[in-house]
Amino acid sequence: MTKILFVCLGNICRSPLAEGVLRHKLVAAGLQDSIEVDSCGTSNYHIGDLPDPRTRNNAASHGVILTHRARQLEPSDADTFDYILAMDEKNLANSEALFRQHGKKPKHLGLLRAFEEPPTQAAVPDPYYGSAEDFEAVYQIVDRATEGLLRHLSK
Ligand code: 4NP
Repeated sequence: MTKILFVCLGNICRSPLAEGVLRHKLVAAGLQDSIEVDSCGTSNYHIGDLPDPRTRNNAASHGVILTHRARQLEPSDADTFDYILAMDEKNLANSEALFRQHGKKPKHLGLLRAFEEPPTQAAVPDPYYGSAEDFEAVYQIVDRATEGLLRHLSK
């Protein structure tokens, strides 16, 4: 079993979307029993919340239903997950700092879009203060990046 964790700030926009989109692709590929996926936030702002209604509506328009409840990144995630993939450099740095403080060494900690084809160090942009178009742009990025990730995992 390979375990993937996506990380953003609030765990209500980008990372629960990445979780839902990848899970949708895993089911389509028949890989849902060999690859597990979860998401979390580096902040405690929205613990227990469903994804933002704008994210849920946008995802639903693409046939992806999101039911995740927000949780905060915790030190033991470094032991549990094979890949911990952040949406941007800030959340990557904060994840690294949390694990370092607790003496944890994650197997793979990096950026989601490093798996996009072609790979990029660019962020999945934070849509929280944006428009419906920004939420759709995030969906398109997450769709492309998780497609590249799935291809990598299927090798
Ligand atoms: P996310 O978006 O990190 O993609 O879940 C955000 C959600 C909430 C906030 C910021 C970004 N916030 O400031 O509450």
